[in-house]
Amino acid sequence: MTSTATRAPVRVILFGMGTVGRAALRLARTRQWLHPVGAVIGSSASARGRIESGEHPADLRWSTDADLLLDQLRPEVALIATRSPVADVKEDIIRCVERGVSVVTSSEEMFDPNVADPSAAGEIEAACRAGGAAVVATGINPGYVFDVIPVVIAGASWDVQRVSVTRMLDCSVFGRTVHRLLGVGYSPAGFEEARRAGIIRGHIGFEESARVIARVMGRDLDRFEENVRPLIAEQTYQLAEYVVSAGETAGVVQDATGWVGGTPWLRFDLSLHVDPESVGIQTRDHIRIEGENTLDVTIQPGTQSILTTSALLVNTIPSVLSAPPGLYTATDLLPAAPWLDADPPPGIRRRIQG
Ligand SMILES: NC(=O)c1ccc[n+]([C@@H]2O[C@H](COP(=O)([O-])OP(=O)(O)OC[C@H]3O[C@@H](n4cnc5c(N)ncnc54)[C@H](OP(=O)(O)O)[C@@H]3O)[C@@H](O)[C@H]2O)c1
Repeated sequence: MTSTATRAPVRVILFGMGTVGRAALRLARTRQWLHPVGAVIGSSASARGRIESGEHPADLRWSTDADLLLDQLRPEVALIATRSPVADVKEDIIRCVERGVSVVTSSEEMFDPNVADPSAAGEIEAACRAGGAAVVATGINPGYVFDVIPVVIAGASWDVQRVSVTRMLDCSVFGRTVHRLLGVGYSPAGFEEARRAGIIRGHIGFEESARVIARVMGRDLDRFEENVRPLIAEQTYQLAEYVVSAGETAGVVQDATGWVGGTPWLRFDLSLHVDPESVGIQTRDHIRIEGENTLDVTIQPGTQSILTTSALLVNTIPSVLSAPPGLYTATDLLPAAPWLDADPPPGIRRRIQG
């Protein structure tokens, strides 16, 4: 049963207590209108270890059993920060939305799930409508620097001759699992092998970002190409979880180009490194929309990945709970904004408890 009238705090469940999930929990606990009621954790020794060592608030219910927590805690919204592929998050999204629990996820592929898995996107959309819930993906990237911000800036454009976005970032804030997917911490030969095997994907989400930008501007990309190459360490880097030795990969450089009508129309460049300053990389985000009214914006020293992603997860709760049931991209919804009042935002969809 749904309502919009109650002033009780919105009940939130988290899936994934990794770097992003823990930051989102920390932020959610500062918002009086939100009540984090539980966390679904991974089954690895490290995921259990963090919980069992008491790193999380004592009043937070946690389990590896998502169905149990969803049924017992009756949350209204889920923040899912577990894995990137649609295939890995689909089941959790569906078990939420079929119970009427709306979802905000940091899964990169979910930013536009039609790129990776149109049939899963269809299943999720159908489950949203059946359960009366909405789903959207967000994060720093995709979800902000490479798509939402360019779209917002381009709102002041006349024509758009070319979109380019450059991001240079410090990836030391991520854990080892994310580094392995990005391509950090490998020997050069190991990097090539893992890239060929599809283990290394560099940053995931360029194609999703590019296709969303094109779609909202009524353009269709007729070609899209992406490249990733390693940055080899010339010194040893001691990270929080492990060491990157000289000769191993300490970062990657990635680019993507999208063509419209046979002409390059969109360009993305991303450099990430575990210690960017040590190799002369100055962190920044640069967005340029070329045309009659060229717009050129630099964010310096660049948006911090974890703080930004966790903020976007929490700040998107009002917009996902304001949207009619369905599967959305972030550009379809009201912009994410921090809701700072003690009472929940007016007009959001509530699940009556009891
Ligand atoms: N869109 C963006 O801008 C953006 C930004 C940052 C991160 N991300 C993505 O968000 C995800 C989380 O990032 P992170 O840095 O927090 O990763 P992380 O530190 O590796 O944490 C992920 C956590 O989720 C747990 N987990 C995996 N599957 C689960 C499931 N089905 N249910 C509950 N917990 C599960 C993992 O446990 P185990 O150890 O047991 O596997 C791990 O504790 C990644 O896919 C990352 O690529 C996206």
